[in-house]
Amino acid sequence: MIKELLIAPSILSADFSKIGQEVIDIDRAGADWIHLDVMDGHFVPNLTFGPPIISSIRKHTNKFFDAHLMLSNPDDMLSSLQEAGVDSITVHKEVCLNLDNTIKKIRDLGCKAGVSIMPSTDVSELENSLDYLDLILVMSVEPGFGGQTFISDTIEKIKKSKSLIGNRPIHLQVDGGINNETAPKVISAGANVIVAGSYIFNGEGAEDYKKRISNLRLFNL
Ligand code: DX5
Ligand code: ZN
Repeated sequence: MIKELLIAPSILSADFSKIGQEVIDIDRAGADWIHLDVMDGHFVPNLTFGPPIISSIRKHTNKFFDAHLMLSNPDDMLSSLQEAGVDSITVHKEVCLNLDNTIKKIRDLGCKAGVSIMPSTDVSELENSLDYLDLILVMSVEPGFGGQTFISDTIEKIKKSKSLIGNRPIHLQVDGGINNETAPKVISAGANVIVAGSYIFNGEGAEDYKKRISNLRLFNL
């Protein structure tokens, strides 16, 4: 279990008409990682962005790019995402026919490898892959859209994930419905990477982003 608390704003809720400036603002506001939700309109009923946009925003920040793939065929996209400049790639357990093979491909590209589980998937399904993983992403909403309400059962799932991880150097990330009320709960349950989209980007510009990121840090590990 990694003890460092990291805040990862999801640009899904940013203003895409000025995405370069939004990334600059969130960098200056103190984001640790930048969370990139790559959706294909198939695994989830929403479509976002892919390598060309990621490579253009890469020029605006040196922050760690954390890609969350909501794709039916993630293997097809791994090398172009790495070329676009992502640092970490998280795939969904539910679509991987051979999870260990996908994790190996990600690591062979030089990226950190994460696996995400939807609210209906039990974390015990990752038990056999723990020695090869850099990150577990516990979804606290159904993947696909920002602005949904946090599913409270996630708290128990985070505790279970934490105990499965044990002493391994694996980040425990939570994503969906995070705000100043839910963040303390997920952090005290054991999450160390906190994704937040609408809570941060509903703020009014860079100063407000900074305040909101600080609010998520109020309860430290
Ligand atoms: C949803 C995405 C999330 C999303 C979270 O499928 O994975 O990263 O941006 O949005 P909020 O924080 O608004 O729930
Ligand atoms: Zn996400």
